Amino acid sequence: MINYRLFTTLSSELAQGHLITFPGSPLLKENLLQDNPLIAEMTELAEHGKLADTRFGCGPFARITLIPLSAWQDSLTDSLLTYLRPLFSAPVCDEVLLDCSDIDDTVLAKNLRFLFNQAHKLTDLGLKKLPSSSVHLRRINAYCAGTDASRMERVFSQQQAIANGMVAARRLADIPSEQCTPQFVVEEAQRLCAAFPNLRCEALDERAIVEQGLGLLHAVGKGASRPPRLLAIHYDGASSGPVRSYVGKGITFDTGGLWLKEGAGMYTMKYDMCGAANVLGLMLSIAELKLPVRVMGVLALAENAIGPDAMQPGSVARACNGMTVEINNTDAEGRLVLSDAIAWASQRHEDTRYIIDLATLTGAVVKALGYELSGLMTQDNALRSALTAAGEQSGDEVWSLPLDARMKKQTESAIADLCNTPTNNAAISASAAWLLHHFCPANIPWAHLDVSGTALWREGGKSVASGRPIPLLMQHLLNDLAIEE
Ligand code: BES
Ligand code: MN
Ligand code: ZN
Repeated sequence: MINYRLFTTLSSELAQGHLITFPGSPLLKENLLQDNPLIAEMTELAEHGKLADTRFGCGPFARITLIPLSAWQDSLTDSLLTYLRPLFSAPVCDEVLLDCSDIDDTVLAKNLRFLFNQAHKLTDLGLKKLPSSSVHLRRINAYCAGTDASRMERVFSQQQAIANGMVAARRLADIPSEQCTPQFVVEEAQRLCAAFPNLRCEALDERAIVEQGLGLLHAVGKGASRPPRLLAIHYDGASSGPVRSYVGKGITFDTGGLWLKEGAGMYTMKYDMCGAANVLGLMLSIAELKLPVRVMGVLALAENAIGPDAMQPGSVARACNGMTVEINNTDAEGRLVLSDAIAWASQRHEDTRYIIDLATLTGAVVKALGYELSGLMTQDNALRSALTAAGEQSGDEVWSLPLDARMKKQTESAIADLCNTPTNNAAISASAAWLLHHFCPANIPWAHLDVSGTALWREGGKSVASGRPIPLLMQHLLNDLAIEE
């Protein structure tokens, strides 16, 4: 975990590590840095829109970076992050001093999460030999105006907790799927949740899944030698009140089933459990912040494998709410496990304020919205506006796709109540959401987030887990709690 400290003046104790600031900052006018010819030269460069970065002659700092002022206000195209990313691919020291004296709230939140997220790197999995000299970021120091200090303290502690949840989720998602099986996810969740007294895990093994009638989850998982699991994580930060539920798609590997994917499209499919991993991460963040609320996270865990017991196209399975689904495409497995998990979640508590599911559900959402925006599908207007606003605030944004009864034909089956995929290629992401909506009772507000484009980000030329949309969901929850008071 990476720690932080806040300062409102530049003491000599603070003058170390990597200073990140902007031309004209009040920080540069403080005694330690005043009348410094190097700073004057760097200021000139940064004022002309260029990155000014030096590791030489900048004592007592190990590195000084001046970033053009415009980047500190740009929440849309991530300019500040674009400057910072390469600098942190090989950090030169274990402390930074981030200048927070003139920074947009969303930009700050995003950049703090980026810095706190430096606690996890792919190479930390211990699968690759590293030079022993590699430096890790240990502490974030921040400089801000005295009048901002208490607000900043709140922002830092929240973003630190969010990032800690993201790190746990990303680490789990990055573990190769032959190790990261449904049972492994359950055990990791139990281990991580044990650190918080208000978190409790309830795991359903394969027998319990069958006994409780979760036939869709079972259909997807039964072809694998590594059996399916359903994991509910309960957080009781309040003794009464409605439960807020999050449901995550946890396909530990998606081969496509008998409707086999081709190799290149299968390569990143160990990440098909990011929804579930991020539900776990969110629960950890909520527990770390000790929020006064009841929350349930449900992880629908299965491996979509091929083999003699794999579900076959044309088969019909029954969900725990009694509805039957014809499985015509075994690669549309996510909606199957989610449907069961949503129905199960809706039955688990009497008073549910909302259910939000998150899933790497369709490749089509990437075609529609790209890699920056998660797809939001809901019929609940209040939830739609709240999630959209929380997205803008947190910088973890969503964009809505239409979802209503005009999708009806897309899920019709001659043999069962529903069919898991339409025979056409129309509105693929919303058709999946339309299937899901049948499994959430109409009196519970429900929203679906398709995170196929956002749950991964590019790092060193490779796609790795991003931890999104944990920031969005935490911001939404914080806003929701403030309204309720
Ligand atoms: N896990 C995939 C969706 C996916 C694809 C996520 C690429 C990230 C990148 C999902 O299970 C899937 O295979 N969806 C199908 C749906 C289709 C069969 C209707 C898809 O997107 O092709
Ligand atoms: Mn699939
Ligand atoms: Zn999938």
